[in-house]
Amino acid sequence: MSETPADYKGPQRVLSGMQPTGRLHLGNYLGALKNWVALQDNGDLDCFYCVVDMHAITMPHDPRALPDAVRAAAAAYIAAGVDPDKSTIFAQSAVPAHAELAWIFNCVARLGWLERMTQFKDKAGKDSERASVGLFTYPVLQAADILVYKATHVPVGEDQKQHLELCRDIAARFNRDYGDGEAIFPLTDPVIQGPGARIMSLRDGSAKMSKSDVSDNSRINLEDDADAIARKIKKAKTDPEPLPSEEAGLETRPEASNLVGIYAALTGKTKADVLAEFGGQGFGAFKPALADVAVEYLAPISDEFRRLISDKAEIDRILSKGAEHARAVADPVVSETKRIVGFWH
Ligand code: TYM
Repeated sequence: MSETPADYKGPQRVLSGMQPTGRLHLGNYLGALKNWVALQDNGDLDCFYCVVDMHAITMPHDPRALPDAVRAAAAAYIAAGVDPDKSTIFAQSAVPAHAELAWIFNCVARLGWLERMTQFKDKAGKDSERASVGLFTYPVLQAADILVYKATHVPVGEDQKQHLELCRDIAARFNRDYGDGEAIFPLTDPVIQGPGARIMSLRDGSAKMSKSDVSDNSRINLEDDADAIARKIKKAKTDPEPLPSEEAGLETRPEASNLVGIYAALTGKTKADVLAEFGGQGFGAFKPALADVAVEYLAPISDEFRRLISDKAEIDRILSKGAEHARAVADPVVSETKRIVGFWH
């Protein structure tokens, strides 16, 4: 039985994606995008970064706004450092192979596996009977996004961990049922790393920073200008104690822990380094220092984002070229999979 990554002999590839719902925020950047760029610049890996518009329609959405939301997400990827000459940037819906493989995986995944998915429960809310079937099978499409490129590495934030475990379960089950001793699909490794893997809301240290939060003050958007960033950090919820000198002192202080984590993730330091510098100081001193770092780091990204978004034709050109390359890689994988499951053509 070949179920271990070591058995898999294909090329090392990276895939990740984001939903084009609303504006990207600091959590998306520190949890995912920053690592996308690091993997791209690693040099040895072929990277595929998609905008998952098919996932976006699992919830109510505005069809007129979706194309521009896809362009905005692509522009944010590029502004954050994803280079279209090094990485493949594309819209998921432009590569039909994702949907084709998702159907086959719908027949591999078990109902019980999906019933355990916490994101479905969160998104569907109390009235899950009214949720779309697409929302329920969302993680299966996510597995298809990854495995249609036979991706070996997936850089994401911590909230995606359960979905990536499901992806491994699907790959293992497919390999077991159809592999005839061979690992057809890799057991993908999630790349979840650094203090940015779970950025929390600025208004509530127990909720993750999210595009769906009704309060814009809960998040820093990648497009926020310097004033907005400074104002949101100033208003961020904290406690009255000074910062501790050791990480253990953050354990019962979620808001303090989050701000220290953001500082660490932005500067490439550890939380321990940050506390060595700021331990004993109050938020009156720490917040302005954090605002300075955030502005310094994000200003070039938001400037570049604004420049790119004003040139729709250029973004469309990048997305078309990306989709063409993505199709060339994904189509043979789907053909192989269709043959393996016994389809007629
Ligand atoms: P999405 O669009 O919700 O989020 C995009 C990426 O941002 C990360 N992220 C965070 N990281 C740290 N702190 C936060 N507060 C925070 N909020 C979001 C997410 O972990 C994610 O990496 N299901 C995925 C999209 C997807 C996908 C894929 C990802 C579809 N297919 C295939 C990887 C591979 C999602 O909804 O991400």
